[in-house]
Amino acid sequence: MFKFNFNLDCEAESGTEDLETESIEPPLEWLPALRHEITKHHLPSSSDADVIEVTIGTTKIKHLAESCALKKLQEKGNSCNVSSVLEKHTDLVPAVYEGGLTIWECTWDLLQHLADLDICLKDKRVLELGCGAALPAIYCALHGAHITVQDYNEEVVNFITIPNVAVNLYNSTTEEAATSVDVHPSQTLASRATFYSGDWAAVNELLLNQQKCESNKGENITDDANDEGQKFDLILTSETIYNPSCNKKLLDLMTAHLKQDGIILLAAKTHYFGVGGGTQQFANLVKAQDQLQVQSITSNSLGVKREILKMNFKVKQ
Ligand SMILES: C[S@@+](CC[C@H](N)C(=O)[O-])C[C@H]1O[C@@H](n2cnc3c(N)ncnc32)[C@H](O)[C@@H]1O
Repeated sequence: MFKFNFNLDCEAESGTEDLETESIEPPLEWLPALRHEITKHHLPSSSDADVIEVTIGTTKIKHLAESCALKKLQEKGNSCNVSSVLEKHTDLVPAVYEGGLTIWECTWDLLQHLADLDICLKDKRVLELGCGAALPAIYCALHGAHITVQDYNEEVVNFITIPNVAVNLYNSTTEEAATSVDVHPSQTLASRATFYSGDWAAVNELLLNQQKCESNKGENITDDANDEGQKFDLILTSETIYNPSCNKKLLDLMTAHLKQDGIILLAAKTHYFGVGGGTQQFANLVKAQDQLQVQSITSNSLGVKREILKMNFKVKQ
């Protein structure tokens, strides 16, 4: 059952809507960007009894139960941002924990939409932003795409995202064969998936810097062709636009890393009550930016409150 139980403690505890008090609150500190490597600790183990299998179209996707990740996080202790937030039974706390351990309902819309589209994903480069469990990206990887996935919290990436990707893509038989020729067991997996955590503005900068380094290496082709090759054919995101103050950095990240003929699919509620974000607010931002065109795809199966925005670059005249 969907709930958006934002932590509004700051207002509730102060017991006042005094603007002066609000105006002296320090700005939120957003987490830096990190790239995460797969280690053997992320690989599926026989103790991962809580693996759930879902079928989307004809594709079977596995994911760890939320309780399994929570248990591992709790074992890690209270020092971590995410477990201390979860103890307060809140869905998210802005800039501290952004809700990635739960699978939110628009993920299912996005998965169904991908299955309905039936596009060729083989060898495509797919980026999922604010991925949490990363099921849409995993769907694409199971159809042959290389995936890059990002979640705000590194704990989510380590305890849900990477294990979910591993449980779907790691083939112990072929990977064991690989180890016999001195290849690390997680290397083959790493060639199919790349992982980041951190705030969208910081991730954008990190990706741009990496792109620059790669461009410097590619001596035989033009910079433009090289840059384009590192961008994404498809960018996916689900339930990430509830906080309007973050939407510009999400949009900047998307437009900076989308191929000229690439597509963005964004699944979200039309309106997130109490916070102001939603598909209409985001579509207005896209229109104001004037680089992308945006089309809204609604269907009866999505219901009245949920929507998928499909965006691509405007064709230059
Ligand atoms: C409600 S969760 C949705 C998780 C998943 N996409 C789903 O549909 O189940 C929102 C996600 O947005 C991402 N997010 C929100 N604000 C962010 C920010 N400023 N920078 C980076 N990621 C952010 C977090 O990674 C978080 O997991």
